Amino acid sequence: MTGVKGVQMKKEDLKRLLEDMSLEEKIGQLVQLPGFLIEGGSVITGPALEMGFDEETLYNAGATLSIFSFEQIKEIQDQFMARQPHHIPLLFMGDIINGYRSVYPIPLGQGCSFDPELVKELSAMSAKESSAEGLHVTFSPMVDLVRDARWGRVMESTGEDTYLNSCFARAAVEGYQGKDIADAGNVAACVKHFAAYGAPEAGRDYNTVELSERTLMDDYMPAYQAAVDAGVEMVMTSFNTLNRIPATGNSDYMRTLLRDTWGFHGMLISDWAAVNELELQGIANDMAESADLAIHAGVDMDMCTPVYASSLKKLVADGKVSETLIDESCMRVLELKNKLGLFEDPYHHAEQADPKEVLLCNEHRQLCLKAAEESIVLLKNKRDILPLAKEGLNIAFIGPYAEAHRLYGVWSMLGREEDTVSVKEGVEMIAQGNTCTFAKGCRMLDPKYPLCGFRGMEKEEETDDEELLLDAMMKAKRADVVVMLLGEHPAQSGEGGSRGDIRIPKPQRKLLKEIAKVNSNIVTVLFHGRPLDIRGVDRRSKAVLAAWFPGIEGGNAVARILFGESDPSGRLAMSFPYSVGQVPVHYDHFATGRPFNGDISNRFQSRYQDIPNEPLYPFGHGLTYTTFDYTSVELSDDVMTKEKPVTVLARIKNIGNREGTEVVQMYIRDLKGSVTRPVKKLKGFERVTLKPGEEKTVRFRIDRDMLAFTGADMKFSAEPGEFYVYVGASSACDRHVSFTLKD
Ligand code: BGC
Repeated sequence: MTGVKGVQMKKEDLKRLLEDMSLEEKIGQLVQLPGFLIEGGSVITGPALEMGFDEETLYNAGATLSIFSFEQIKEIQDQFMARQPHHIPLLFMGDIINGYRSVYPIPLGQGCSFDPELVKELSAMSAKESSAEGLHVTFSPMVDLVRDARWGRVMESTGEDTYLNSCFARAAVEGYQGKDIADAGNVAACVKHFAAYGAPEAGRDYNTVELSERTLMDDYMPAYQAAVDAGVEMVMTSFNTLNRIPATGNSDYMRTLLRDTWGFHGMLISDWAAVNELELQGIANDMAESADLAIHAGVDMDMCTPVYASSLKKLVADGKVSETLIDESCMRVLELKNKLGLFEDPYHHAEQADPKEVLLCNEHRQLCLKAAEESIVLLKNKRDILPLAKEGLNIAFIGPYAEAHRLYGVWSMLGREEDTVSVKEGVEMIAQGNTCTFAKGCRMLDPKYPLCGFRGMEKEEETDDEELLLDAMMKAKRADVVVMLLGEHPAQSGEGGSRGDIRIPKPQRKLLKEIAKVNSNIVTVLFHGRPLDIRGVDRRSKAVLAAWFPGIEGGNAVARILFGESDPSGRLAMSFPYSVGQVPVHYDHFATGRPFNGDISNRFQSRYQDIPNEPLYPFGHGLTYTTFDYTSVELSDDVMTKEKPVTVLARIKNIGNREGTEVVQMYIRDLKGSVTRPVKKLKGFERVTLKPGEEKTVRFRIDRDMLAFTGADMKFSAEPGEFYVYVGASSACDRHVSFTLKD
């Protein structure tokens, strides 16, 4: 090694290293070995060879993934470095998408906070914990735009809005990577899945994506670009075909757009086995052709398949792939290792860290609690049934989530039930003045649909369903208020978690129906990884809280909101459809020539015969325990020119009698363009906390760049004309002012 203590290697040193490496070694750097093939520092050769890896590449591999303890990481690093001819360290990667041991809400819940600063802090916390255990790279943030709640992976995204996603993409990258990824406590981020994985046809995972170039560029691409602009070190390809070309074999997007136009210089990794799948997607005949396509399209590292390992050497020998191409990709891998300081310290400071001091420390638990509170959305609160009094009430807490500890999403690799506060535990901390009873009421899942989780089949305890129901009914009858704790099983969302019916499982629907017969004072708290069809729940509940999968502090957060220790401040980052028949549904749809005007005697308008056009709860919606009034919305000028942006000033007042947090949202509509424009687009937001009677002016600057879109000429620019500016509490707000953009 040529590194100097405390200093990263210079570019010339890296070049020298590369020149000294054999072709086999260089190809090895482009291979990520699955963690399950490594045991006690050695590769389990039999299965590795069976999978198609060749012996030569095994100890030359550039990276591995999903190994989550420093002892193991150190052992593997030491043994691999000893066997690698140039002692090049491995990169250790993993999916830490909502915290390491301190698990916080799923990304869709984070999106509902409308608080990018918070997400930056959370990501920094996650980096601190995972790097203390030896991790170098996290496969996060996932910034795929999502509009179809059937797709299980909507839980990994921050929602349906381009601008909001871009803000969160930037924040997460800044949080994970800090000022310098070489520093202790930071990890490299990997934005995924490039590109447009969030739009699989019919919401079925891994399915085809077909998007017009304008939709792709204006709506789907900006969040990936925001991550690149924030300096993300890695990009991951996606599984889907995009307009008939598999994303993992698409050089137009990976080389021309990502590298040449956006200026991304980091490392590109395929998604798990995505290079291999080029064959199944029908654009390659065999592994060699897949490797050829992927490396030419720009994929530097092959995740977990032997395609590069077994094909690249021959492709070079046959002259199909130039060694220069291999060198370029290898250099990117070496550069990332160098930036992380691994040539100096292959454990990235983990040897000096004491995970016991960091993991689950009080400060981290507090941040998880704050995040869980900010992510919870109060969808409905009839006759102000919430918040509940802290004393004098008899309250029955009923449902499979009443005492459950698994309140985290399926991707929480290190999430543990014993670390997690249940709703029962949270309630018992603060509502001692009430009589609280708890009952499961029913099983979580419908046994008719066996559920396979990430680690095999999900098994539910055998229960006596009748007895569970009787117990719950008895407690509900005696109660002043019933709090129902219902939802999806965590494994019903996440990768491979597509659903055609997005209601809560049948046993829980039945339970709610029965309880409603004996007590009508129902508050429902939902745990879920996607917006659900909650018509039945909504009809039977006076209040509904969407709690997502809130993480280890979930029980405390829910209890604090129920009893008014904390105010709900989340807003929907993804619309709750009226029913599955509406999806994909999103607020920023386009104008139609036949908008529905409410006249049902006119057949020929854009509407359904049996359901409304509007979602049940739209993007941006969320109630608080107080009331806000938008006293005025004004523009600094009604004309915008190239040189002169305009400012919108919204005056907002808390006219209720409690402190509360409003998320002031600013949307813009472009009334006429060379192509049809969306009816509204979020362009700004601010969280504002006001005391009763307090008033504040919120300002949003609007400049020309914010009005740009891909026009009829395929150029991205703003077009002169009239614009409406809406400021309000959700995407359904209709009060607006207007300005004209002059050339
Ligand atoms: C997922 C990625 C993930 C990777 C590594 C894939 O199946 O699509 O999001 O990062 O596995 O675990």
